[in-house]
Amino acid sequence: MPYEFYKVLHLLAILVLFTAMGGLAMVTLRGGSEQEMKAARKPLMILHGVALLVIFVAGFGLMAKLGMMKSGWPTWIFGKLAVWLVLGGAMALLKRPMGVAWYLLLPLVGAVGAWLAVYKPF
Ligand code: HEM
Repeated sequence: MPYEFYKVLHLLAILVLFTAMGGLAMVTLRGGSEQEMKAARKPLMILHGVALLVIFVAGFGLMAKLGMMKSGWPTWIFGKLAVWLVLGGAMALLKRPMGVAWYLLLPLVGAVGAWLAVYKPF
């Protein structure tokens, strides 16, 4: 697969990830019985999990296309892995009413991921 394919896939999965996080924040804010909340959360948790996996696989596809598997990993890749982990854990936060306030900060975490890929600061 070409570099461009992995890039579009990487970006598509990031969009889906944020859609799932927004959905969960809305479910938490709406409230309801435990059974209703569970049913509403399930598809969003699945969407979030699949998006995380695709971001990871496409990210490594991009690295392979850029020759990083042979030349070694630049330091900014570790920063991206940290961003990926934080966004992976964000759903646990968004399940709690107090955690929803963090929802507004999550795009900034995503922006750090974009900044690392664009500026490659280290
Ligand atoms: C497993 C974690 C990740 C890996 C290994 C990874 C790796 C990469 C690589 C190798 C590139 C290509 C850089 C280039 O073309 O020079 C890239 C691009 C990009 N990544 Fe990731 N990434 C990861 C997670 C993320 C996350 C969590 C975000 C933000 C939410 C993100 C946002 C972006 C963006 C916006 C680009 C495009 C930058 C551009 O077009 O120049 N990445 N990523």
